[in-house]
Amino acid sequence: MTQQKPSLLQLLPFFVLPEAEERLARDFNVIQLWEEPDPDAAILAHQDSITVLVTSAMTPTPASLIDRLPNLRAICSNGVGYDAIDVKHAQQKGIQVSNTPDVLNDCVADLAWGLILTSARGLGRAERHVRANQWGTAQLPLGSKVTGKKLGIVGLGRVGLAIAERAAGFRMDVRYHNRRARTDTSWTYESSLAGLARWADFLVIATVGGASTRHLIDQSILEALGPRGILINIARGSVVDEAALVNMLENGRLGGAGLDVFEDEPNVPDALKNLDNVVILPHIASATIETRQAMASLVLDNVDAFSKTGRVITPVVD
Ligand code: 8YV
Repeated sequence: MTQQKPSLLQLLPFFVLPEAEERLARDFNVIQLWEEPDPDAAILAHQDSITVLVTSAMTPTPASLIDRLPNLRAICSNGVGYDAIDVKHAQQKGIQVSNTPDVLNDCVADLAWGLILTSARGLGRAERHVRANQWGTAQLPLGSKVTGKKLGIVGLGRVGLAIAERAAGFRMDVRYHNRRARTDTSWTYESSLAGLARWADFLVIATVGGASTRHLIDQSILEALGPRGILINIARGSVVDEAALVNMLENGRLGGAGLDVFEDEPNVPDALKNLDNVVILPHIASATIETRQAMASLVLDNVDAFSKTGRVITPVVD
């Protein structure tokens, strides 16, 4: 008698890897929740046979869902951030959680630099100026120089390091703030976040999301960054007090912002859309063909490894 395959609950499709569905189906009976007319009924029907859950950095994976799956053993997420997953609850139940670290460092760091250059030099504003046929009629304000300025990084993790490494090309001084200094890097550690904000011309947020960093960048930090400072966020919208950010920008008490993430995605406050010294992007830091394929492949590798060995490859270290 052939052994019944375990079930895998997939919360979202892998758009960039068409072969993903076939690969998952080799070892699992796959429930593609977005295809189910009644998702709740589908979970109920398969709840006892589901051993693996595939989710993503932006797909809510709460304790309430985890608790509906009594035989769940692994959660494999597409993305490096895990603030949308109740990791602590999962791990307390002995459920492994994997993410996709490192494969997206370069693209996220590249986008941070895109935001630095675009916000400092007003590239978005200039592009809109030309498209609106205003070249030769209205005068564009001058931007600010990037090369030789001071770069402050909040959260010198894998992505933060990739951002810092790129500063050499712009002859920039780099300092960083973490909960504690790293012992494996020569970048200058600033123990005070406010002190880093006072020092920096550009303050780049590269921390994890979630409760531990919620509103870490508040009014006081934005005040310290000041009217010539520019805030860059490629981490999570929750890290910045968005209402305070809007207020500071509208009152000219912050020089500008380059944002790829927001507190209530995909909803972006109109006030930010109306400000010319703000660059706003729809959370595209890892959105390249190469990186999204690498991320999806790593999810599948984690599922495969768990299926064969009982261990995921890249467990979340919370
Ligand atoms: C995207 C990300 O969210 O990896 C993360 O934490 O925020 C990005 O890679 C992507 O949507 C992951 O699914």
